[in-house]
Amino acid sequence: MRIGGLQLFYFKNHEERHLQFCDGINCITGPNGSGKTNILDAVYYLANTKSFFNGIDQQLIKHGQEFFSIHGFFENETPTEILVNFGNSKKTLKKNGKVYRRLIDHIGIIQTVFITPYDISLILDGSEERRRFLDFTISQTDRPYLEQLSLYKKLLDQRNAFLKQAEGSHVDPVLLETFDDRMAEAGQRIFEKRRAFISAFTPYFQEFYVYLSGDAEHPTLLYVSELHEKPLKDLLYLSHNRDRVMQRTGSGIHKDDLEFLLSDYPLKKYGSQGQIKSYVIALKLAQYKYFLEKTGKKPILLLDDIFEKIDGNRAGKLMELVARDYFGQIIITDTHAEQVKDHLEGLTVEKKYFALEKTLNTNAAPAQNSSEDPA
Ligand SMILES: Nc1ncnc2c1ncn2[C@@H]1O[C@H](COP(=O)(O)OP(=O)(O)OP(=O)(O)O)[C@@H](O)[C@H]1O
Ligand SMILES: [Mg+2]
Repeated sequence: MRIGGLQLFYFKNHEERHLQFCDGINCITGPNGSGKTNILDAVYYLANTKSFFNGIDQQLIKHGQEFFSIHGFFENETPTEILVNFGNSKKTLKKNGKVYRRLIDHIGIIQTVFITPYDISLILDGSEERRRFLDFTISQTDRPYLEQLSLYKKLLDQRNAFLKQAEGSHVDPVLLETFDDRMAEAGQRIFEKRRAFISAFTPYFQEFYVYLSGDAEHPTLLYVSELHEKPLKDLLYLSHNRDRVMQRTGSGIHKDDLEFLLSDYPLKKYGSQGQIKSYVIALKLAQYKYFLEKTGKKPILLLDDIFEKIDGNRAGKLMELVARDYFGQIIITDTHAEQVKDHLEGLTVEKKYFALEKTLNTNAAPAQNSSEDPA
């Protein structure tokens, strides 16, 4: 899977930008705030129908403008043209000129793996981030999972609204049970798939962690869920009273978590900075391998600020790894062109360099086209 051309109009700080990528390693360099990460985010958007960083499309429109548009030309067995337009609070997504009725139908067509300094939130933030990682990774290659998940979320909202409406007083247990039945069916399937996923995914992850860290510590992923103890149907039934008082649903797969361990100790509490960095990169590389194994197609690898925020040793190992045949097209960003060139010098894959200028944030900025240096 490759992206050939990318065109942006009024997307974040980019007024109008046209880029033509090579099939190997593409390096985007430029000063802080010049829009490097935004370009990776645009590629991510075309694959996932939303920004990696910001779920509010309105905020992605360049200041002072009324719409944004991202246009990508992919080689995905056959040429595939994806166009996103957002304006007047309305988003349209087209594949080869045809408008999608439901955005969800686009998920899994194009796969990207995005490695960014923000990945650290997987370790440090709350369980929602980890569930998002889990759901994102599974849904890319499992449409029924995505459908079950969206059904489950809808049912959860309905059950919570029903509990809220009762304001803590009596709720009809029979009516509550009708919610339980439908939620339990979807939730139980999601649980089974998450469990199967973790066991398939863990060996990939362990392999990359050991490679990156050279560490003797044994990393493991622990899937934390109440559903290991009891079926969701029973959990929901047993929590009727608590849920009535709390006015929300306290049991279910929306409470699941993923625990990151190193030799049986929680990484968040005991891991060194280097171990944490290796851990998150290994999670993302395992995601790459998982997609590749499932689909037979190489995802597009997006590496944000890879030499800046990840230390030299790990970045060197990562580059050595990705330059092997195993990985396909890569887009890298960095503030220092020379630093990137040094790192990539010895690699025999095709390379292309793009230099962004710092743009003034005015509405009347001229159309900017990056200078290309085929080095
Ligand atoms: N809606 C928007 N309209 C205009 N500018 C925006 C918008 N959203 C973000 N920006 C600008 O985009 C710039 C950030 O772009 P980006 O994060 O891609 O920079 P970068 O080149 O990756 O920088 P760094 O080297 O610091 O990572 C900021 O200057 C920010 O103000
Ligand atoms: Mg950046």
